[in-house]
Amino acid sequence: MKQFFYFAVAFIFLACQHQNQDQATVSPSWELEHAGIWKTEIGNPAKINLLNAASVQPQAGKLKKLGKSDFPLDKSKIKAELRNGKTYLQFPLEKGEQIFGLGLNFQNIHQRGRIYRLHVDHFGGRDNGRTHAPVPFYVSSKGYGVLINAAKYIDIYVGTGLRKDSETPADPKDRNTDKSWTAAPYSDIAEVVIPGNGVEILIFAGKNVQQVVQRYNLYCGGGYLPPKWGLGFWQRTPTLYSDSEVKQEVEEFAEHNFPLDVIGLEPGWHSKSYPCTFEWDQGRYPDPGSFIATLQEAGVKVNLWLNPYVSPEGSLYEKIEPYTGTHTVWNGLVPDFLTGEGTEIMSTHFRKELLDKGVSGFKIDEVDGYDQWVWPDNATFPSGLDGETMRQIYGLLVQKWSDDLYKKRNERTYGLVRASNAGASSFPYVIYNDYYRHEDFITALINSSFSGVLWTPEVRKSGSPEEWLRRMQTVCFSPMAMINAWADGTKPWSFPEVYEQCQDVAFLRMRLLPYIYSTFAKYYFEGIPPFRAMVMEEGFQNAGDESEAVLSSDENPYAIAVKNEIKDQYMMGEHILVAPLFRWKTERDVVLPKGNWYDFHTGAYVGNGEVIHIEAGLDKIPLFVKDGGIVPLMPAVRQTKEWKENTPLEVRVYGVKDGVFELYDDDGTSYNYRQGEYSLKVLKSASKEGNVENLKSDGPWTYGDISWKFMTQRP
Ligand code: GAL
Repeated sequence: MKQFFYFAVAFIFLACQHQNQDQATVSPSWELEHAGIWKTEIGNPAKINLLNAASVQPQAGKLKKLGKSDFPLDKSKIKAELRNGKTYLQFPLEKGEQIFGLGLNFQNIHQRGRIYRLHVDHFGGRDNGRTHAPVPFYVSSKGYGVLINAAKYIDIYVGTGLRKDSETPADPKDRNTDKSWTAAPYSDIAEVVIPGNGVEILIFAGKNVQQVVQRYNLYCGGGYLPPKWGLGFWQRTPTLYSDSEVKQEVEEFAEHNFPLDVIGLEPGWHSKSYPCTFEWDQGRYPDPGSFIATLQEAGVKVNLWLNPYVSPEGSLYEKIEPYTGTHTVWNGLVPDFLTGEGTEIMSTHFRKELLDKGVSGFKIDEVDGYDQWVWPDNATFPSGLDGETMRQIYGLLVQKWSDDLYKKRNERTYGLVRASNAGASSFPYVIYNDYYRHEDFITALINSSFSGVLWTPEVRKSGSPEEWLRRMQTVCFSPMAMINAWADGTKPWSFPEVYEQCQDVAFLRMRLLPYIYSTFAKYYFEGIPPFRAMVMEEGFQNAGDESEAVLSSDENPYAIAVKNEIKDQYMMGEHILVAPLFRWKTERDVVLPKGNWYDFHTGAYVGNGEVIHIEAGLDKIPLFVKDGGIVPLMPAVRQTKEWKENTPLEVRVYGVKDGVFELYDDDGTSYNYRQGEYSLKVLKSASKEGNVENLKSDGPWTYGDISWKFMTQRP
């Protein structure tokens, strides 16, 4: 009897506890954060999440300008549930709806029908959620976006599985007789599992995919505007190069007349790596200050490779030890950048040894994984963080920390990082990796546009001159034009057979810098990604076969996922469509959005809202400009230091429609533009006339004479 009593008490106690912790399925209540952005908290979210790790500062004024919007989803269909120490979410999906985003994926643009566990890691060759920036933000073709703001390994089922209580199920099919039966039937729901007793969710509205992304980027502080030099050409030298070898390489670039703005030093500049000492190797770099000064005189900035793991053989080791995690990486300490003291110790060292000596930025390596060498999930850190949370945000923390070092000097930097996450759009970093499939590099470039990150399809060794050229062509149409020769010592002239074509495309990038720089200004001021997916282009959804654009509930999600999926062409800024060619290809299909399109190189009309087949040959990367497109070009300078007062412009006008282009300029290196020190002029073409209208002309302005070039024969 007594036993029964105890049992009953224990049962009631457990049942109550269960009731306290777990909640029935609820529809969250939403609070308006900014026009078109809503937030909710379910349960007790963890203190550290992605957006506060990135310290995002929403651009409130810009968000307001985008205007009000209705809540873009049926609120009653968004459901949340706390159970077993986890948070479960449901979001509705409609027929015909396509989903984009969920971070830096390399193989798929369409995410409906896919399942991911979002986990920061080096991309392993298959889209499964383990990637450098597994951003838990998805964008719908219906004009909304969902951000799961949690620094956890999040599971997401994007339209797989069907609930019993679904209001819009597809009819079951008989496999015996119906050939259209599929193992993955239609699903009308996206479901999310977050380990933890709560989560913060944000919903972003938009009149189209681009505007949703704009709101998201502006909420994260706007996109990054690189210094002008960051958009010139980059070369990373072999690991053990010495100062004299680097100087010689810089001279060779001049002799070969090849663009060069930045030299990247790889691990050998450290006295020891990996882990790193962050101290110059006395043998290879006896006098770093004067070495950097010599390079700067030659118009070349220095970028340094590092991983943040502190070597026992460096002077930082003992000082930083109290502010590091329980586990080491390659025997190096892992600084906790959430501890003020630890961060300050790192900052003081970096300022004195590196920034004060003229270093312009960093390549922050190995902050993504692999599991074999980074800390395990059971690691803990002095700030109280666990290994899992730290894994998801470490890339954000190092970006934020190093960005602050330069911001305090009112100096813009630009560099590379191998891990990122939500909230990163305002950081001065471009993601890269060791994977090398060219086609997938371009798909990643496209996907980066949905997630507020930048990506470079960096060039390394190639199997043939042709492959080399194709890679050089695409990297020049990306956020960072770079050869990474750390292991193979390649140089732009490594394949003499195609040297001239490589030179051509590198100089074409230099000529396009006024266009590219203005495009990045729109990333900062308006949140519009500079390199973006075709689906963000007006008139795109209906390009090609219109009947195919309508997805029906009879189809399985995997079929839906691949329909009209464009993985190999993208927009660079407002007017230029880039359709790269890969190894062994001299022809391809290009999907043109609605409206007239013209060949960039000749100005000739190519098509309108259709799929065209082009034979492009080897020499040029196929580029197309939309009707009314205006593209300002400057002279073919080798280095951005020559982009100064009175730079003449050739303004190309394509097609027959009137057009406008907002040409932006500022001092190119500081943050003064954020205090209004910039100029903005509108280049306008109407019939056969071109003129310039001042929107704001009290800031720096480097342009001189403008000559208009009407590329297309007009009737
Ligand atoms: C890799 C990195 C390469 C190169 C190399 C140097 O992890 O991805 O780009 O920097 O380290 O050791």
